[in-house]
Amino acid sequence: MQVTPIGTEDASQRDPFLAFVHDDQTAGVVREITESLLLPDDLVRNGSMDHARSYLEHVRSPRLLIIDIDGSSDPLEDIVKLADVCELGTRLIAIGTDNDVTLFRDLLSMGAADYLVKPVERETLLRSINALEDPNAGVGALGRTGKVVSFIGARGGSGVSTLVGNCGWTISRSGKRRVVMVDMDLHFGNLGLMMGAEAREGLADALQQPDRIDSLFLERVMSSCADRLFVVGGEESLNQGIGNTDRFAIDALMAELRANFHFVLMDLPRSASDIVYRSLQLSSTTVLVSDLSLAGMRDTVRLLKFVRESNPGGQIILVINRMGENAKAEIPLVEFEKGVGRKIDFKIGFEPNAVLQAANLGQPLIETRCATGRSIEALGERLAGPAPKLGTSKRKSLFAKLRK
Ligand SMILES: Nc1ncnc2c1ncn2[C@@H]1O[C@H](COP(=O)(O)OP(=O)(O)OP(=O)(O)O)[C@@H](O)[C@H]1O
Ligand SMILES: [Mg+2]
Repeated sequence: MQVTPIGTEDASQRDPFLAFVHDDQTAGVVREITESLLLPDDLVRNGSMDHARSYLEHVRSPRLLIIDIDGSSDPLEDIVKLADVCELGTRLIAIGTDNDVTLFRDLLSMGAADYLVKPVERETLLRSINALEDPNAGVGALGRTGKVVSFIGARGGSGVSTLVGNCGWTISRSGKRRVVMVDMDLHFGNLGLMMGAEAREGLADALQQPDRIDSLFLERVMSSCADRLFVVGGEESLNQGIGNTDRFAIDALMAELRANFHFVLMDLPRSASDIVYRSLQLSSTTVLVSDLSLAGMRDTVRLLKFVRESNPGGQIILVINRMGENAKAEIPLVEFEKGVGRKIDFKIGFEPNAVLQAANLGQPLIETRCATGRSIEALGERLAGPAPKLGTSKRKSLFAKLRK
């Protein structure tokens, strides 16, 4: 499958700062700060919360957003709407005239890091901005960190990378979620190739020096496949060994990815390595893929046990792919379920013609609207959960509202 990137987005274009204010005194104070930080003038804009939302729908979210809530009839509801269009980790400082402690508490519970009452002094605003840098301050951020889903196969070639690529495609189109797919078959992975992404090296090296993993590093090693969809890994030079990778290097990678993406999809190789073990432990969901062969059934049993033991709280989704490929030799579904001791969650048929057609058209399988594609799309939708919608309760917390 060769996917043509459409309107690809540059991961580096995230402003450090953006302000929407609409009185001269506040605008003046914010401008003093941006000037002292040598930031461009157009990061301080004259506008309401509505203006901020329409603007942020079309651009990368800033790391820090300053919003004037005056003029809004319901600032809490407007913050919820802002969170829908903001990327994870955006910090918000609200400014307003109302000196009300209940409003202050409500704004914080909705994800604002601070609320400052007008007239705002330069020193007060600076103190509030500096507090965001303090990791111990526990200040809030709009949204939460991303969800990690691992995909692993009971047999080689069972379709793990196909599922990761197509689920990534589905999720990134559902509710504007940003998705990164990590190909942990560091040297021979085919995920990037399948998605038509530019090959980039660097992940294996970084896993040996996890303190190098930060957002700048990520921008260098990841490739864009489509709007909001990125891939990293799988293209290392054969001269680049993996060496003695610290299993906790994966923690640093995940932390950085989760802070920047709504979903992290791990394409895991079939091995009992420390890196695979740790990736499974850090996942909220594991998608286990098998065919209906005897060996597939045996290894599904072993993998189910392995995943349950390494991550007792995690959810497991069992998928049968390539169903019907070798109908006469396949274990009947009922027998397979009996053998592995649980129900199969998704059954995906074998459709080589659709795979070929998708490859010829340069599209992901799900775009061909074949039966196989629709089944994979259903899996992607299950992983994505409901798209973020505006809550009916104005006082509902962002955490509850954005839960997937
Ligand atoms: N449902 C399907 N119908 C037909 N062909 C399929 C189906 N699913 C996957 N394939 C094809 O099977 C091959 C292997 O798929 P894929 O690379 O996704 O498997 P994998 O489990 O990631 O393999 P590996 O173990 O090498 O990582 C690919 O050519 C893919 O196009
Ligand atoms: Mg694969």
